[in-house]
Amino acid sequence: MPGSTFGNLFRVTTFGESHGGAVGVVVDGVTPGLELEPADIQRELDRRKPGQSDVTTPRKETDEVHILSGIFEGKTTGTPVLCILYNKDMRPEAYDDIKNLFRPGHADFTYFEKYGIRDYRGSGRASGRETAARVAAGAIAKKLLSRRGVTIIAYTLRAAQVGCTNIDYDEIERNPMRAPDREAAAKMVERVKALAEAGDSTGGIVECVVKGVQPGLGDPVFEKLDAEIARGMLSLGAVKGIEFGAGFSAADMRGSEHNDWRESGGFLTNNAGGVLGGISTGQDIVFRIVVKPTSSVAVVQKTIDIEGNDREIRTEGRHDPCICPRIIPVVEAMVAIILEDQYKRQAALHA
Ligand SMILES: Cc1cc2nc3c(=O)[nH]c(=O)nc-3n(C[C@H](O)[C@H](O)[C@H](O)COP(=O)(O)O)c2cc1C
Repeated sequence: MPGSTFGNLFRVTTFGESHGGAVGVVVDGVTPGLELEPADIQRELDRRKPGQSDVTTPRKETDEVHILSGIFEGKTTGTPVLCILYNKDMRPEAYDDIKNLFRPGHADFTYFEKYGIRDYRGSGRASGRETAARVAAGAIAKKLLSRRGVTIIAYTLRAAQVGCTNIDYDEIERNPMRAPDREAAAKMVERVKALAEAGDSTGGIVECVVKGVQPGLGDPVFEKLDAEIARGMLSLGAVKGIEFGAGFSAADMRGSEHNDWRESGGFLTNNAGGVLGGISTGQDIVFRIVVKPTSSVAVVQKTIDIEGNDREIRTEGRHDPCICPRIIPVVEAMVAIILEDQYKRQAALHA
């Protein structure tokens, strides 16, 4: 399907649907000689997989990765790496009630308009499950980037109308919301659980900080670094917006206030979010995405069927009441894919 490939010199193609045989990814452009074992990828997949807590879907996908190519004696060979995750715990019958209805807020209607046919079982390509393939590719990119001294950290900054006031990176993986503030996380969990019990859902804001990026990455003009990151983020289901650095608050700032002043020791602020003119400054790259409330809710809503008749819909089933905790490893993976590509492009420019 056109539109399933991302990147230039580090190129990722994902395939598969949530209720087909498997989801997977072909990663081309992996540097040869990288030590890589399934456990490197599995670790990241386990952070994304469903059923981790009662603020995520109780689906029990094992998400076990199999690497079918591109590796010899524990090292990458430079040829395409194919990672595959066979689908298990599928319950297509759970979608029987809605197979002729369009879920409000989901991609059912637009897929039907586009293709004239739709895999209604678990949303096909529009399923969050597609992102498992990106996480597998991202794990490889992360490993390559760690050799370059780059680290990527994402976390829930806000969810269920509760915002973090404290940022403690050590706290992130200790709570089910992946929030960097223990007290805020506890309040988020309480509210998400209450919403889930009421059959509803909530959204939030995920922040991502990338450290150790060299200055000079990104291409003028259509492939600016921030434009590439925005494209990658908006290619994720449920992501409705992105801001870098000071972001939308720049609207109320003065130029002298927003400009990041410099001294010989470095930048004094980072309102740009680490990118100027589409090229990395060498500061942390900082951005935030808004994650919409999960559309599949068990509240009665108005919709139409495939013949255009007025209908009511109530989406039962095992959905994430808040997508933030599970999208975090996906955000990190997508940024890693983009940055590894950018590093390779910068090396090619100076070759
Ligand atoms: C990790 C992840 C998990 C998701 N889980 C669900 C889910 O359980 N139920 C649901 O309706 N949508 C879920 N989504 C969101 C849908 O994939 C998304 O809303 C849908 O494809 C429509 O795209 P749009 O929201 O970007 O317009 C998830 C997305 C991600 C990235």
